[in-house]
This record gives sequence, C-alpha cells and structure tokens, in this order.
Amino acid sequence: MSEKSVDKATLKMIKKAGDDNVKLAWDRLVAQQPQCGFGQLGVCCRNCNMGPCRIDPFGDGPDTGVCGADADTIVARNLLRAIAAGAAAHSDHGRGIAATLYASARGEARDYPIKDEAKLKAVATEFGIVVEGRSVQEIALELAGAVLEEFGTKKGSLQFINRAPVQRRELWDKLGITPRGIDREVVESMHRTHMGVDNDYTSLILQGLRTALSDGWGGSCIATELSDILFGTPQPVKGVCNLGVLMEDQVNIILHGHEPTLSDIIVFAARDEELLAEARQRGASGINVCGMCCTGNEVLMRHGVPLAGNFLQQELAIVTGAVEAVIVDVQCIMPSLPQIAGCYHTKVISTSPKAKFPGALHVPFDEHNAMEVAKKILRLAVENYSNRRREKVSIPSDRMEYMAGFSVEALLAALGGTLSPLIDALKSGSVKGIAGVVGCNNPKYRQDYSHLTFIRELIKNDILVVATGCAAIACAKDGMLLPGAADEAGEGLKAVCKGLNVPPVLHMGSCVDISRILTVAAAIANALGVDIADLPLVGAAPEWMSEKAVSIGAYVIGSGIFTILGTVPPVLGSKNVAALLTSGADEVIGAKFAVEEDPVAAAELAVKHIAGKRVSLGLKA
Ligand code: SF4
Ligand code: FE2
Repeated sequence: MSEKSVDKATLKMIKKAGDDNVKLAWDRLVAQQPQCGFGQLGVCCRNCNMGPCRIDPFGDGPDTGVCGADADTIVARNLLRAIAAGAAAHSDHGRGIAATLYASARGEARDYPIKDEAKLKAVATEFGIVVEGRSVQEIALELAGAVLEEFGTKKGSLQFINRAPVQRRELWDKLGITPRGIDREVVESMHRTHMGVDNDYTSLILQGLRTALSDGWGGSCIATELSDILFGTPQPVKGVCNLGVLMEDQVNIILHGHEPTLSDIIVFAARDEELLAEARQRGASGINVCGMCCTGNEVLMRHGVPLAGNFLQQELAIVTGAVEAVIVDVQCIMPSLPQIAGCYHTKVISTSPKAKFPGALHVPFDEHNAMEVAKKILRLAVENYSNRRREKVSIPSDRMEYMAGFSVEALLAALGGTLSPLIDALKSGSVKGIAGVVGCNNPKYRQDYSHLTFIRELIKNDILVVATGCAAIACAKDGMLLPGAADEAGEGLKAVCKGLNVPPVLHMGSCVDISRILTVAAAIANALGVDIADLPLVGAAPEWMSEKAVSIGAYVIGSGIFTILGTVPPVLGSKNVAALLTSGADEVIGAKFAVEEDPVAAAELAVKHIAGKRVSLGLKA
C-alpha cells in the first residue's frame, strides 16, 4: 500500500500523530504482522476446552479438531457466530430505540416527543394497529409494544418481512429461513455453534442467512423506522464534512458511535444559552458539535450536523489537539481512544452501560432524563476548553460540502411522490441499475480508495449509487454527494440527476439504514411484479471490517442481491463453504457473494451482473 489514505486530512493527521509520538491503528496493524494465518482462513476453533484446535490448511497436519469437527464445520460455525454478533449489535440498537419510543409514549421520556406523526401512523398501520380516532400516545404505546414483541415473537415471523415480494417470502419459507423472533435467531445461532450441535456447513450457513434476515428486515428496520418516528424522517439537507469542520476558536465536540438517542439530544442541548455563555466566558466563540461514523450520520441526516469523518478518522480527530470531548455510545469505537486522548487534553466520555472504556470518563446516559444528562456532558466539554494546549493544535483545512438526507420518503418526494420515474429510467436504460455501497474502513486497505474508485466506475456506467455508513462519508469527503458530481456520471444518469438536482450518490443514512435500501428494492420489485433477485441491483462493502458488515452481507444476499466484498472474509479454509457462498448460493437463494479486492475489477463484476439482470428482464443491456 503506497499511502494509507486518499484523504488529505487523514494523511496530514497521520503525519502529526507521528510527530506527537502517537500510535494509530495503522501502527498497531504493522505490529500485528504477520497476522495469524489460521485466523485469516477461519480454521481455528476455541468453542470448547478440549481445544483450541486448528486445521492444517496444507493437509499435512490434523484435518479435524479434538471433537472431530472438520474445516467445513469450523469455518461455517465461525461465520455464523460473526453473523450473530453483527445481527445482535444492530438489533440491540433497534431495541434501544423501541424502548425509548415506549418510554416516550408512557410520558416517561419528556425530551423525546414524537416528531413524525405521519410515519408513526403509517408504521402502526403496517403492524395492524388501529390509528383512526386515537391519540398519538396511544398509537405509539401500542406500536412500541408490538415492536418490542418482535424480539421474541410468538407469531412465528417478523412484521417487516411483509414488505418483501411474495416470491422472496415463499422462497424463505421453502428454505426454512423465514426469520422468527430476532433474539431467537441470535440465540439459536449461539446454540447451534456450541460444541456438538449443528455440524453441517450448509445447515449452519442457512441459519446464518435467517439470523441476518432478522437483522435487515428486523432489528435494523426497527432502528430506522422508529428513529424516524422519534427524531424525524430525514429530508434533503446540506452540510460540511471532514476534519476541517473542527473550529480553532470553538469548543469542539465529537459524537461518535451509532445510536441517535444521545447524539440527537446533544445537538439541541448545545444550543443552551447558559452553556454558550459559559463557553464564551472561557474564550470560545461557540460550541461546535460534529459527528463521526454512524451516530454522526444520524445527526447529519436529520440536522445537517457537520461530519468530522469516518471510521479511520476517530483517532485523528483527537490528534488535531482541538477536540474538547469525544462522546461515545456503542459500536466501532476504538478502545485506543482514551490512550490517545491522554496525549492531548481531550476527554473521552462513554455513556452506554453496555460500552465502557478503561481510561474514559463514564457518564451514564438516561433517556428518562436525557436533556439534563446531555447538558452535564456538554458542560464537561466546555470546561475542558480551558485545558486546550494551543501548541498542540493543528486542524487540517480540508472540508467538503455535501447533500444528504435521502430517506425513502425524501427519495419519493424528489421523484414527485412515486417510484415510477425511477422505474421508467431503469426500463429505458438511462439508469442501468442501482448499487448499494456500504460499510467501513479497514487499515489493511488504503482508506476510502476502494469506496471512491468503485463508485466512480459505477456512476460512469450509469449505475445509481445509494450509500450508507462510512462508505457514504467517504463520498461526502470527496464531493461525490454534490449534485455537480453528476458530471462524472454517464450521459443517462447525468441527465436524471441534473433533472432532479440530486447527486449520483444518494446518502441514505447510517448502517442500520441499509433497511431503507431494502425497502426501496422491495418496492421496485413489487411494482414490477418480480422478485428482488430479478432486479438490476448489486450490493458492495468495499472496505468492510466489522461483524455487523458480515450480517449485512448475509442479509443482502439473503434478500436476493449479488454482493461484492472488497476485503477477504475468513472462510477460505473451507473450499466447500467458500464455494457455497460464491457460487452455490445463487441456485439456492438467487444471489451470491464475490470477493474482489481491486475496486476497478469489482466494478466490472457489478456492471456485468447488472447487464445480465437487465437482459433477463427483457431490457436493453
Ligand atoms: Fe476443538 Fe471441537 Fe472444541 Fe472446537 S469444538 S475447540 S474443534 S474440540
Ligand atoms: Fe455504522
């Protein structure tokens, strides 16, 4: 890798970290070399205390563990555990939002009024809840109860799967992978992977798909839809992105993690006159709240809050020396942050009882008392402004404007109230297909390079891109979320984007908001009377790293969408599992994975796949 990033702000702060003698993820990656070959292939197991065991990939050593498990069983079990962990993370996030809605409806969370009553009624109706003649509180209480029931439901399947086309649902039923309760699938996956339970790799992978589907059409969908109800459904919004959003003369706060419950309230708390006066007293001209990763995406989608960066920039924000507090909730928060903060004046403040960090200050967040806790946290940041060490401050000037906020509702509004113009554009070929590009950064790969190269190739080929998570932030930093980026698109896509004044890459939100992409895909399939697998769609995670991304990949192919992974998953120790995922799955579920580290070659795969689907639908390739 010639350079660690394509992002100039990142490169400048990596250099500063070196000067300040601060170790970053890239340094720790070097220290880990060579990384464990057994782990890379997925052939080590420590699921019981007869082990740990490992299979010799060269065939010279043991080909089973002590219990007799072979490489197929071990690789498939490890993969299923990763999916379960990812699904658990997204779904527990969803549960937290549902609990907040429940508290709001009971009048126990006064700082969380319902912001989108129309969406509350629409989602309640989907759940068969009567809305006519009832108060918002009554509807919200019944909906929150029904949603919380989805985690261990007795009714046999999840509600939101009914958005999927009937062909898809029948296939899930036939394969026995219709997701039942969300918690049930995660628990069953842990049960099956316990020593001596499910040892058949096909059976394990099918359970992986079912667990992942309980994430995409369950936990993630709940997180998205209920967040919209509570915090407002995103509408197109403009903002600014990259480390250059930090202000030399303001109290800088980074909101990092994933859940909007805390971050949304901080945005409002930061407008408090008393706190602003205190900031001014300390010599700051204001309080600058900025986002990072997905909790940043949540507040940028709804409030246009400046976004400081994506996953690999969390340490670098502290390295600027200009951040008074990094306030974190859950997921994708590097445990290194308090240590790095120790080299500057930054306070790392953890807020979730589920996520504590040695060296961080823990201020437990309480949704019943949200505004008060938010102000308490902000006060700590304001007070810390006096400790800023001017000689250590260097904020890169790099910043870029973006347009985001493309919820399904916003997309429909941009299209004039119906999906028909998009479907017509797909039929005519001015838009050849749609690609969902999602996922993380990974220090094994040049930051943002794969995201941006892959996406540029797609739009050149008239493929509309919908993006979430750190992939979307990569695009924001590079100007790809501006309507002007359509100049880089093929003639067909360019004309469509110019006509609607939208960018060729639509930012649809955080990682749980991939459920928005599923909803759009299902709606297009339903409008055409076909399965999702028949549509000219692809999914891609060019720089993925987390277990959540494994679950996402699995529910995207489980939903019938060909998915390209840009970083290699630990499954190559089993030829059978690798073959099932990259080939056999197509016959079973109508979609498969491809693994391609080169983003240009990955784009070729996407273009070819979309052309093939178009021909099958009777459209011009
Ligand atoms: Fe070894 Fe089997 Fe135990 Fe895994 S479950 S550690 S392969 S004995
Ligand atoms: Fe995320």
